[in-house]
Amino acid sequence: MKRRIGVLLSGRGSNFEALADSVAAGRIANAEISIVLSNRDDAPGIAKAKARGIEARAIPSRGLEREAYDRLIVSALREKQVELICMAGYMRMVSAYFVSAFRERILNIHPSLLPAFPGLESQRQALEHGVKFSGCTVHFVDERLDAGPIILQAVVPVEDGDTPETLAARILREEHRIYTEAVRIVLDGCYRIDGRRVLFERAHEKV
Ligand code: GRF
Repeated sequence: MKRRIGVLLSGRGSNFEALADSVAAGRIANAEISIVLSNRDDAPGIAKAKARGIEARAIPSRGLEREAYDRLIVSALREKQVELICMAGYMRMVSAYFVSAFRERILNIHPSLLPAFPGLESQRQALEHGVKFSGCTVHFVDERLDAGPIILQAVVPVEDGDTPETLAARILREEHRIYTEAVRIVLDGCYRIDGRRVLFERAHEKV
């Protein structure tokens, strides 16, 4: 049986598209994206998923407490029997309920070298801080914001002329690459988590 992935997003959905391309091209082998869910019904990523023939829908969060909302998301993911969840620009903190329902099975991508610059506008934060290198991080999701064990990172040099937008665009290219690589590692199970460290049991193929 194909390994089933669920994607959560709130916006544009370019990381979702990169993952969908990798599944279609066999870079993520023997897998399918079974469902795309969004907290926003106007998320362009939802329309992009539907255009690819992938089941996608919004579950609006208005008026719901965090855990009550997450119960809806968890039940939609369970219905599809997903074994891995990829947050791809999903602009919500998740509850302890959600994390324990899929412990060590939820990934997130963040546009900085964590633990630097968590939260919003990481590329702007990086420029304002004056760092010479930024990048992106794929990590397991726990109850804290942008804080779970790190699976992969990629470094992107900051250029003198960078604006938040130009830096974000260069980081995004690396995001698309390492998200595929991280999903492969986790689906293949060739790693172990030792405290905060994710250790690889064998060399993995680069994307
Ligand atoms: C990406 O930069 C991702 O790292 C961050 O939100 C952005 C989402 O972009 N979490 P997209 O919707 O995948 O294009």
